[in-house]
Amino acid sequence: MPKPSKGTKKTVATPSSEIKIKINGCWHTFEPERDIEPTMTLSYLLREKLGYTGLKVSCDEGACGACTVIMDGKAILSCMMLAVEANGHEILTIEGLAKDDPIVEAFAEQCEPGYGTALQCGICTPGFVMSTKALLDENPVPTMTEIKEALSGHICRCGCYAGIAQAVTHASEKIVNKGEES
Ligand code: FES
Ligand code: FES
Repeated sequence: MPKPSKGTKKTVATPSSEIKIKINGCWHTFEPERDIEPTMTLSYLLREKLGYTGLKVSCDEGACGACTVIMDGKAILSCMMLAVEANGHEILTIEGLAKDDPIVEAFAEQCEPGYGTALQCGICTPGFVMSTKALLDENPVPTMTEIKEALSGHICRCGCYAGIAQAVTHASEKIVNKGEES
């Protein structure tokens, strides 16, 4: 996951025309000021205005990864981005994944002795899943080093790191197997 830039959230000029954001495959149109204030974060728009509560806002300052969504194929921290900056872009939240998404399945199934579960309270899970998706879309068979690097910005307060890393390797196997079957 890209590291967040430090410092305060910058304010960008609000476009005078409509703001259009494609979310989970559907374009949404917003009126600046009325629907989206200039300082509104993308995480606030998605969670509080549109009800995509899969993403979590834990630290709200770019330090935990819980708010991760995918924008134009890359994992981003939605708490560190202004909603207006998403104008013209494509956002994928965990709600946009298929019910049988191999990553979600791998996280849910993970329970190997020695590695443990990939989730306990689940607060961090959507963020880990979305960063995993961005990683595996780009690199379907990552090394453990690449997995750790891709997930390095995420915090799991329940300490499920070994299980999460193992779930990512199983998700990778599922994706490769699916590709070979089709
Ligand atoms: S809530 Fe966005 S990084 Fe923690
Ligand atoms: S499962 Fe609880 S914070 Fe990760």
